[in-house]
Amino acid sequence: VKLGVLISGTGSNLKAVLDAIDQGRLAAEVAVVISNVPSAKGLEHARARGIPALVIDHKAFDGRAAFDASLVDTLRAHEVDWVVLAGFMRVITPVLLDAFPYRIVNIHPALLPSFPGMHAQKQAFEYGVRIAGCTVHLVDAGTDTGPILAQAAVPVFDSDDASTLSARILAEEHQLLPRVLQWIVEGRVDVERPLGGGRARVR
Ligand code: GRF
Repeated sequence: VKLGVLISGTGSNLKAVLDAIDQGRLAAEVAVVISNVPSAKGLEHARARGIPALVIDHKAFDGRAAFDASLVDTLRAHEVDWVVLAGFMRVITPVLLDAFPYRIVNIHPALLPSFPGMHAQKQAFEYGVRIAGCTVHLVDAGTDTGPILAQAAVPVFDSDDASTLSARILAEEHQLLPRVLQWIVEGRVDVERPLGGGRARVR
């Protein structure tokens, strides 16, 4: 299974995926890494492994659809089967969705449907939740919506601030994303026939 990983920054989730592959926990190949941010540190993780690491700067395009079309061209050129949004900070359009229907996975640092959007960890912290966490889901036309594949929970301590909570969630993300991708490789995620109400079936 060839993965195309889209990043915008640190790429710690990308690194977790690459490490899982190196350690034999994920039987997939990262065919290409694309960042919309030229200075994204995460590109280094790909370059260090000789994986194509490209910048497609969204500012260089006239609108989201044109940007997505460029992403699709590059993903297709690398024969990507599944697209992984790993700390990717752009809302994608039907141009990308239609090119990879139910084949785009996102990781979000909150227990969706709570706290969609940016700074989800901070939203949860400031709300005063006692349990926070992260979600891996199939991407649909909404923002942080789409069938949920897996979630992981972490406790929130009185001694926490937004950054200590974010770090605890991030550690879970690094476990959850590679695990779900391996389920996909094993064909356990039935994306063609989600259960009622958009629920994804994971056998
Ligand atoms: C992570 O919390 C991820 O869930 C969110 O962006 C943050 C940074 O991800 N989408 P990464 O370190 O760039 O993978």
